[in-house]
Amino acid sequence: MTSSRHDQPVIATYDAADLPARRDELLERRQPAVISGLFKGQLLGELTDAQKVREALGDLQVMIGVNYIDAHLANIRNFVQGSSAPIAIDKKPGLLRDYLDLIEREPTTRALTSEQPTPERILNDCNLGAVGIEKVHGGYGNPLAQRSASEAHSLMFVANAGNASDLHTDWDGRDVLLHQVFGRKRIVLFPPESGFKLFPIDIFSTVAVNAMDDAERAALIAYAGGIEVVVEAGQTILMPAFWWHHVGYVDAAMSVSFRFGGVIDPDAVALIGSVHRDCHIQNIVAGTLDPRRAEACKAAARRLRAAAAEPAPSAREKYRAMRILAAECYRSTLLPGEHAPAEPVITAEDFLDGALCAFYRRPPKGPAWRQRIWQKREAFNEAIRRFGRRLAYQA
Ligand SMILES: [Fe+2]
Repeated sequence: MTSSRHDQPVIATYDAADLPARRDELLERRQPAVISGLFKGQLLGELTDAQKVREALGDLQVMIGVNYIDAHLANIRNFVQGSSAPIAIDKKPGLLRDYLDLIEREPTTRALTSEQPTPERILNDCNLGAVGIEKVHGGYGNPLAQRSASEAHSLMFVANAGNASDLHTDWDGRDVLLHQVFGRKRIVLFPPESGFKLFPIDIFSTVAVNAMDDAERAALIAYAGGIEVVVEAGQTILMPAFWWHHVGYVDAAMSVSFRFGGVIDPDAVALIGSVHRDCHIQNIVAGTLDPRRAEACKAAARRLRAAAAEPAPSAREKYRAMRILAAECYRSTLLPGEHAPAEPVITAEDFLDGALCAFYRRPPKGPAWRQRIWQKREAFNEAIRRFGRRLAYQA
């Protein structure tokens, strides 16, 4: 692991051999860290180049898809143009060796295999006892399920040099161990409170870190209080829940993630699946893990959860009211007596509200005719807004 610049904060490092004694410290500081040797002597610790992976896992069924940030950008373009159909992220089944062949043949491809459930043959030889994880499941855990510090869900990622999972935050509220199997990845991290400076839409920052040169990235990191690290084969990075992360492939590389623990407050967990995703909500939910502000953030989460359950005339009005309440809760809970950070213009409610309102698009309770009227009115309003965007785009 190398820090890219001497004048930036340096990430904490741990040796797996010391973890039995330092595990609580590692998990309780709620800061990123790099662990060396976590899978020493296990299959994951031995697949240190593409050829070894091809031999051990070449026949593994995977989905080969387009870069999902590209797909989301296409969706945003379509939204602005008033198109109704969201683009599905195009994925085709194949074998892992097909993908490894593809990136040898086409080193600049935007295709990647990401978020694949980690196969049993890896998990069967996977001991994470050093960090207190006793059981690992392949796949992405239900974000709303009861979470546990001793159970993890595991995904694997393989892509070529130059590809990236661009700057975003995950919304399952779990901590993540990302193990580098072969190749190197550049990881740029920002704490939840930096989100306001990263111009996000939903959980995606609009800052294109992958297109930045070293100096531009250093300036962004200094401005928004981030940290950068290049993780090498055999190293595992700990990313606390709700940290923003950009993961760039320095080489063709493979990594395996383990998502575990994280947010436990029941109101905060409920918010993860039932309200819109913005920086205010993110910081309140993440704040329930910070001993200095946990009680205030839990109270705010309880208030937001109760408000979200109240009926509203339309999803749009509900979204508008919830955004205002979330900002108020954030200010009174996390910034008492201070001015709130300026909100990026692009989170204004008239932009992308079709997507962001969706969390509140619930038919009212009651007779079926009332629900049908509500659905027709929502569909009509959406059609009008879409038509308006199309006119504005073509004007
Ligand atoms: Fe992520």
